[in-house]
Amino acid sequence: MTKKLLFATNNAHKLSEVQAVLGDTYTLITPRACGVTEEIPETQPTLEGNASQKSHYLYTRTQIDCFADDTGLEVEALGGAPGVHSARYATNGHDFAANNRLLLKNLAGKTNRRARFRTVISLIEGGEEHLFEGIVEGHIIEQEIGSEGFGYDPLFVPDGFDKTFAEMTADEKNSVSHRGRAVRKLVDYLHNREK
Ligand code: IMP
Repeated sequence: MTKKLLFATNNAHKLSEVQAVLGDTYTLITPRACGVTEEIPETQPTLEGNASQKSHYLYTRTQIDCFADDTGLEVEALGGAPGVHSARYATNGHDFAANNRLLLKNLAGKTNRRARFRTVISLIEGGEEHLFEGIVEGHIIEQEIGSEGFGYDPLFVPDGFDKTFAEMTADEKNSVSHRGRAVRKLVDYLHNREK
């Protein structure tokens, strides 16, 4: 029988990426489906802090076991920016195109284009918190390529590939991505705990 797990996102892309890694054992439900329609606050200075803030907020509101993730793109030549500010790098909203333009502008003329995506997941289960991290190393190319995925995907080439995340199928991206890695750690934890 599939079990329900509340995931602190209303982003359809993320939802389907994470559901694909979880498989049939768990069905993800959204905050909206549990009556939480307001934006969940994420005001902390770190990915860990934000993931934790979001999962605690949701657990307090619903008393349902849940998890939240926070992701940042950390670019070496920019001192780790945009990092925790990845969603609102260029504007106050989630304007992916503007974020990508600003990233390219800030990297113009730089030879070091190393970058990594880092995801932190905070799971709250029975009132206890567990953290999981996933990292993928790669580099930023000079212009957008590909139309799959979202966010910085058209600019990010993971190590070991010669194409961007935006040129990959969802399965291919999940097999190496920051979020895929963090979610697999979450799944391993959930499965082992049930043994
Ligand atoms: P969030 O914390 O997962 O919402 O991610 C913050 C921001 O990082 C998003 O608004 C995107 O700009 C970017 N981001 C997160 N995950 C990905 C990804 O898998 N590919 C590309 N960009 C991402």
